[in-house]
Amino acid sequence: MFLQIRALLLVFLATHALGATYSQTDSFVGSSFLSGFSFQAISDPTHGRVNYVNAATASSQNLTFASSDHFVVRADFKNVLSSSGPGRNSVRLQSNKRFTTSVAVFNVRHMPQGCGTWPALWTVGSDWPNQGEIDILEGVNDQGVNQATLHTNSGCTMPSSRSQTGTSTGNNCDVAATNNAGCGVRMNDSRSYGPTFNNNGGGWFAMERTSSYIKVWFWSRQATGIPSDVLNGATSINTGNWGTPTAYFPNNSCPISSKFGAHNIIINLTFCGDWAGSVYGSSGCPSSCVDYVNNNPSAFSNAYFDFAWLKVYG
Ligand SMILES: *[C@@H]1O[C@H](CO)[C@@H](O)[C@H](O)[C@H]1NC(C)=O
Ligand SMILES: *[C@@H]1O[C@H](CO)[C@@H](O)[C@H](O)[C@H]1NC(C)=O
Ligand SMILES: *[C@@H]1O[C@H](CO)[C@@H](O)[C@H](O)[C@H]1NC(C)=O
Ligand SMILES: *[C@@H]1O[C@H](CO)[C@@H](O)[C@H](O)[C@H]1NC(C)=O
Repeated sequence: MFLQIRALLLVFLATHALGATYSQTDSFVGSSFLSGFSFQAISDPTHGRVNYVNAATASSQNLTFASSDHFVVRADFKNVLSSSGPGRNSVRLQSNKRFTTSVAVFNVRHMPQGCGTWPALWTVGSDWPNQGEIDILEGVNDQGVNQATLHTNSGCTMPSSRSQTGTSTGNNCDVAATNNAGCGVRMNDSRSYGPTFNNNGGGWFAMERTSSYIKVWFWSRQATGIPSDVLNGATSINTGNWGTPTAYFPNNSCPISSKFGAHNIIINLTFCGDWAGSVYGSSGCPSSCVDYVNNNPSAFSNAYFDFAWLKVYG
């Protein structure tokens, strides 16, 4: 009896708490981002100074560019904007497929930088916030570090002490109770965001979602001890070998499986708006956010993502 319980416990630990092995289900490299994702030419729900364009416009303006091992997504950096017109042309991509329990690994060479930029890699369900939101990469105005955040409806909180290398910004994930802030974790590696990320050649962001926890990891390109399955984009991975996550969101007092539905992966880049705009004045950036974005196209020549690949495992 004791041995049986111990065996069950070991199985539980192996499959739930300590990570698990997964096989690749999806691989996005170069032009397969264009077949696996759809352009969302929508108005930004976060009120950014942005004009999300469709696939034809993105292609003709070279805002998306695919080669054998690069997929580049950028904002326009050529045009001065009329203050009465729409915002700066940019791209918002949504995966055609939805994912529940899975691991996503992003190999990113470069992320958008520039005053006023607000880039994000994240996942979200169709009914926000009831199906939850998981932000893997997000920040504003070039100010690191990266922050990973969960957004939910009520009834999802995180333990104040947990096994992660990052620092919590708050432990209530409920958007209504936190003025939409959710429960964030700031990464303790300065290379995780913005110009510092880019100057170090980028790196890998990974998110593991099971029915009992969500974990996010970051490894700089220059880090030592990068797990070989991450480094090589292996077809089989073992998250149990990835070490302490940067951000750990366990289900102690958050029923992960009911707070998070089927999620699309989203890649977007906006400007100003609810976050980048509201803190612009204290960011050390010049002028006002909207004026800067309207009048300084060349300041956005580095406002692009360059992906080596994105792989999803299940
Ligand atoms: C389009 O963008 C790619 C990636 O940034 C760049 O290498 C290429 O030169 C651009 N093409 C044109 C015509 O500007
Ligand atoms: C981040 O935190 C971990 C664990 O506390 C520590 O080992 C590591 O040195 C820290 N890294 C940085 C860049 O501060
Ligand atoms: C956490 O998730 C596991 C696996 O799904 C489940 O067995 C357990 O009951 C959950 N714990 C809580 C407190 O919801
Ligand atoms: C992307 O869109 C979502 C809302 O759909 C928003 O929460 C997020 O801030 C946006 N970020 C960017 C970079 O557009």
